[in-house]
Amino acid sequence: MTFLFNSDARRGAVFAEAFASELPELPFAMDQASVDPDAVRYLITWTVPQDLGRYRNLEILFSLGAGVDQFRFDAVPAKVKIVRMIEEGIVRMMQEYVTLAVLALHRNLPIYLAQQRAGEWRDVPQLQAGSRRIGVLGLGQLGQAVLDRLKPFGFPLAGWSRSQRLIHDVTCYHGDLGLKQMLAASDILVCLLPLTDETRGFLNADLFAKLPAGAALVHTGRGPQLDHEGLVAMLDSGHLSSAMIDVTDPEPLPAGHPFWSHPKIILTPHVASVTQPATAARAVIDNIRRHRAGLDPIGLVDRSRGY
Ligand code: NAP
Ligand code: GLV
Repeated sequence: MTFLFNSDARRGAVFAEAFASELPELPFAMDQASVDPDAVRYLITWTVPQDLGRYRNLEILFSLGAGVDQFRFDAVPAKVKIVRMIEEGIVRMMQEYVTLAVLALHRNLPIYLAQQRAGEWRDVPQLQAGSRRIGVLGLGQLGQAVLDRLKPFGFPLAGWSRSQRLIHDVTCYHGDLGLKQMLAASDILVCLLPLTDETRGFLNADLFAKLPAGAALVHTGRGPQLDHEGLVAMLDSGHLSSAMIDVTDPEPLPAGHPFWSHPKIILTPHVASVTQPATAARAVIDNIRRHRAGLDPIGLVDRSRGY
């Protein structure tokens, strides 16, 4: 039985140390060329290796990231469990990023940054937090954690998911009607949906039109969910006031793309959350223990849903 780590050596060293201390009986390998493929029971990777088929006894394919959209499910045998990364580092960083973004847009930072560049000293009317409604698309690990972190600021909070959720102090919506209702009441919309066939292209001009005039967008889901032209059109028409965008398609954006210089967009290079190797290794070790005890790993992907 072997655990195969297929990523950078720096993170690998942290994983190797954790495995040596917590699961010393499980051999840990980082070199695909020298590993006995039949011994590999667990593999962690960002993308599905081309030669996955050689690991005939694979039991769990772990994603190094929270999202699994980079995996082609049909390339993974049905008997292999696909598990996404749920670890406290990713959660904490996403809480920080979305709080930063919501506060930046709430406090009109894009306007003040543009004014600074133009040498202008002028205040704009400031809405109070109690009047700025936040709507979060996706009420999973990250959507819920972000809402929890936003609570002390006093924003009215809402969220939307596929199934019905109940979260203290958050108005929860689901389904098509719920989406329409939440959009109509979201001054800042945060996207934390996984990328699936249903969410590809989800953030488009039609959806933005359902937001109140002057609304803003925080996008920390996945790049292909956002229609770039639709966003720029809505910002240029003034229907949307601003956006903070962490994920795009492609990544990185090509030179000359409008997002680089748009005065109403703050752009970051897919850094909202980064897997932290020490806490990620602990989460994977716990999941291997669960699996060995006959329990489902935490973060088990439902292939039929796509997340
Ligand atoms: P999660 O726990 O799987 O939660 C996903 C949420 O989205 C759930 O509430 C789910 O509804 C909802 N959802 C999915 N498809 C839907 C649909 N078609 N209609 C309505 N709701 C839908 O995922 P997570 O851990 O919160 O992560 C979310 C995503 O964040 C990841 O997939 C990844 O793409 C992104 N991410 C980005 C970064 C970054 O650095 N920018 C970092 C980490 C993660 P149910 O509750 O009903 O299942
Ligand atoms: C990063 O985007 C992740 O999915 O963890």
